[in-house]
Amino acid sequence: MQQFDNKIALVTGAGSGIGAAVAKALAASGARVAAVDVTPGGQVTVDTIKASGGEAIFLQCDIQDSAAVADAVAKTVAQFGGLDIAVNNAGVDPEVAPEADWDETAMERILSINIKGLFLCMKHEIAHMVGQGSGAIVNLASAAGVVGVANKPAYTASKHAVVGLTKASALQYAARGIRINAVCPGAVDTPMLDHNLPPGVDKSLIAANHPINRLASPEEITQAILWLCSESASYVVGHSLTVDGGLTVQ
Ligand SMILES: NC(=O)c1ccc[n+]([C@@H]2O[C@H](COP(=O)([O-])OP(=O)(O)OC[C@H]3O[C@@H](n4cnc5c(N)ncnc54)[C@H](O)[C@@H]3O)[C@@H](O)[C@H]2O)c1
Repeated sequence: MQQFDNKIALVTGAGSGIGAAVAKALAASGARVAAVDVTPGGQVTVDTIKASGGEAIFLQCDIQDSAAVADAVAKTVAQFGGLDIAVNNAGVDPEVAPEADWDETAMERILSINIKGLFLCMKHEIAHMVGQGSGAIVNLASAAGVVGVANKPAYTASKHAVVGLTKASALQYAARGIRINAVCPGAVDTPMLDHNLPPGVDKSLIAANHPINRLASPEEITQAILWLCSESASYVVGHSLTVDGGLTVQ
């Protein structure tokens, strides 16, 4: 018997980084997984899961589109027969500019994906989970949802919003059997980190900001996410769990 046998999970942003690691780990622990991503990268994750004997489907979807998210949830339920676990991980972090160079279009995109998109995912996931009277949702916030990060105003605001959305929805649905929590990683060694390094900054400088003096692997963040999804966390509600090598303790 594996930890997530008979569980059905949906993971957004499953084509890369943390989302890909979460989708693979859930499948390796027995879950049937809907891998959602706006890019075809989600299919690569699904192919890897299937090659290891797991069960998964790829659903291409932009989480900013309410009808598309509703359709992804409906297809997951139709294919696998329910929805027990949702990991709302898809997000973007393209900001490296100081305040004077703030870009309004970039800000709107960050808020639209990281806040509205995650809100829409919860809306459609919860609509199904309420009907079955159970579910576990984990939202990807960030250490930037706990403390401010210079030169990342929209990203910092968006991740504080994820923590707030997590608390509000956790309060609303705890008595109806749905546990909603968040994870707040420090810097994780994923393509996102590669893409948004400011000029002249390399990964070792980012790592050195963390008391543990290294970056996290996607698998280390995955372990915290899987715990929050599991029955081991059955009394954990509305919590934002920092997994940040001590970054926000300083
Ligand atoms: N990497 C880090 O250092 C770090 C730290 C803290 C928090 N996070 C958060 O963790 C999450 C995953 O980050 P990652 O590092 O794995 O990033 P990543 O860029 O490697 O992967 C993000 C995935 O989300 C998908 N995505 C983006 N916009 C989407 C949309 N509109 N609809 C559907 N899918 C979309 C991308 O296609 C990609 O596959 C994000 O929410 C991020 O903010 C990352």
